[in-house]
Amino acid sequence: MASLMLSGTGKITLFNHKTPIGIGNGNGFTASDFHGMSLSFPKTSINCKTRVSNKLRTIVSPKCSSSSSSISSSRPSSQPRFIQHKKEAFWFYRFLSIVYDHVINPGHWTEDMRDDALEPAELTNRNMRVVDVGGGTGFTTLGIVKHVDAKNVTILDQSPHQLAKAKQKEPLKDCKILEGDAEDLPFPTDYADRYVSAGSIEYWPDPQRGIKEAYRVLKIGGKACLIGPVHPTFWLSRFFADVWMLFPREEEYIEWFQKAGFKDVQLKRIGPKWYRGVRRHGLIMGCSVTGVKPASGDSPLQLGPKEEDVEKPVNPFVFLLRFALGILAASWFVLVPIYMWLKDQIVPKGQPI
Ligand SMILES: C[S@@+](CC[C@H](N)C(=O)[O-])C[C@H]1O[C@@H](n2cnc3c(N)ncnc32)[C@H](O)[C@@H]1O
Repeated sequence: MASLMLSGTGKITLFNHKTPIGIGNGNGFTASDFHGMSLSFPKTSINCKTRVSNKLRTIVSPKCSSSSSSISSSRPSSQPRFIQHKKEAFWFYRFLSIVYDHVINPGHWTEDMRDDALEPAELTNRNMRVVDVGGGTGFTTLGIVKHVDAKNVTILDQSPHQLAKAKQKEPLKDCKILEGDAEDLPFPTDYADRYVSAGSIEYWPDPQRGIKEAYRVLKIGGKACLIGPVHPTFWLSRFFADVWMLFPREEEYIEWFQKAGFKDVQLKRIGPKWYRGVRRHGLIMGCSVTGVKPASGDSPLQLGPKEEDVEKPVNPFVFLLRFALGILAASWFVLVPIYMWLKDQIVPKGQPI
């Protein structure tokens, strides 16, 4: 599909206490907001919630009282997130896997975006051991095996239907392919040099637990690279995003990484080239977040029981209703890239869209 990266991607390095205008406040970005911004999070303390003051544009970060629990664990009624549930994700991909590579990736996750998002993972050695969590049909794995020998790469996913597509891809024939849960990885502690997960966190009922697992399975000095969507700034997209699944704010990604124990946490913004690097319209954009494991062993973060018990029986009518509403909300995100692509064709080049 698209072969160029948008011009305005930005790397956010965390080193002071200012935040880019627009982050998390629903006001959207201007093109100039896109470059050289720094996002702030105290490195020494862990915070539960981050509030952005519109007036001062500074982050207010009240300290977490007790806490070990995930900041995204509760789903307020305004954010039902119908497909942020393992059973729903299973059925969603039971059907979506049939068209995933042909319909989803061209609109939301292009080869140029993928390669740009993987760049901070620093896949610098062909002998690195890499795990691709929520690897699905292997689209991101195809980017990984450009740099690392396929025999050193494991693709893990909860969907056998997605994995069946990965198995058919010739460059991935030497990869190990495993069914499993991102929140409970079947790898030993201190196992991998790189942890990659692209476009999967939005389905995890407890993202903090998944990121804690990323920390655990990495070797000391190993790097996690987690790629995902960002909470849209445009109100209608935000509404559909919250109905459909988890679209974290940039601050949340960073906070989850820091709470898990990662150091040198960085966030790079990504998007298809037809967005022209502008976030002012606030539709949907993504990010690639990286962090380095500073010490061997498990994450220092302690968590309580799992957010979701997949064994618990569900009412089939409630399940079907949630599933149908989730799919309806998801349809909006098929229209968004088409709209943006058309705008890119119409608005003269060089002007923001
Ligand atoms: C949008 S696809 C991304 C696939 C692939 N990483 C890519 O770049 O195209 C999301 C994938 O996450 C998987 N997934 C969702 N929840 C998961 C979980 N708890 N554990 C493992 N995989 C999960 C889905 O089955 C699906 O294949």
